[in-house]
Amino acid sequence: MSIKQGHSLLGAADLAPADVEALLDRADELRAGALPHRRDAVLGLFFFQPSVRTHFGFRVAMSRLGGTAVDVPEPYHRQEMSGEERAEDVIRAVASYCDAIVIRHERPEVLHCAVAAGIPVINGGNGHREHPSQALIDLYAIRRHYGQLDSVRIAMVGDLCCSRAAHSLLLLLRNTNVAEIRLCCPSSRRPADEWLSREAPVTLAKDGLDLSGIDVVYVAGFPPLCQDDRIDDEERGQYRITAPALAQAREDAIVLCPLPNIDEIAQSAVSAPQSRLFQQSREGIFVRQALLEWLFDLQVT
Ligand code: CP
Repeated sequence: MSIKQGHSLLGAADLAPADVEALLDRADELRAGALPHRRDAVLGLFFFQPSVRTHFGFRVAMSRLGGTAVDVPEPYHRQEMSGEERAEDVIRAVASYCDAIVIRHERPEVLHCAVAAGIPVINGGNGHREHPSQALIDLYAIRRHYGQLDSVRIAMVGDLCCSRAAHSLLLLLRNTNVAEIRLCCPSSRRPADEWLSREAPVTLAKDGLDLSGIDVVYVAGFPPLCQDDRIDDEERGQYRITAPALAQAREDAIVLCPLPNIDEIAQSAVSAPQSRLFQQSREGIFVRQALLEWLFDLQVT
């Protein structure tokens, strides 16, 4: 029987500030050993683009809730027939077999098509636009280190025009009292206005990478999504996080990254004491579990 109730998360704006707080609090409880609220449900994983962390993370999170995660069968991705089937048709045909779905597809229309199926939907990353579950994980990592978000100074580094995780994080940060969001990016790679808010304390680094006085170095990286407008290696190198670059930041600063890290963070910085890359990823599972509980309306506050 299909549950046909609960929430959808298509973008960070779907989360009220109280939702974000409740989700992060719940992630804390789960991390501390609280038992998940169980749901014997089927979560459909409709990944039309590659993913390691998001796909695997939601699969494991669903199994910890006592449910099952199923993938769109592999043949969809091949062009064995007369051409490639439309994602919308795949979703219309089989989304209703599931109680909720996570989708990764570059076109926003595909997400809306899934919502029309009448079941809760999570955006698992769409093109250059948004990746709200990742941004919740990022916010959780910041709160885990500092205990709260007020007065924190964050440097966002990389291609902020194309980073979907950075866009969702910028939206979530609108509802916090962080002291500064410093954009460290090439001038051609600034985030579009729709991700920024006049109220947010956004500043633009003057000299490329400026980490002075920063508490959180958030490395959005240079996603290989903008192949048509590549940043040359020399310019890209100006934004590489190295151990000497980290020395500019505050003593208790942390380095976060939604991953993958190709070479945006040098290995000397990956293994530096400030690095929280793998803790951030590891603890993201608790955020995804909390999100699935919320998706199925299982949250008890
Ligand atoms: N962070 C993230 O979205 O990773 P994947 O592309 O592996 O899911």
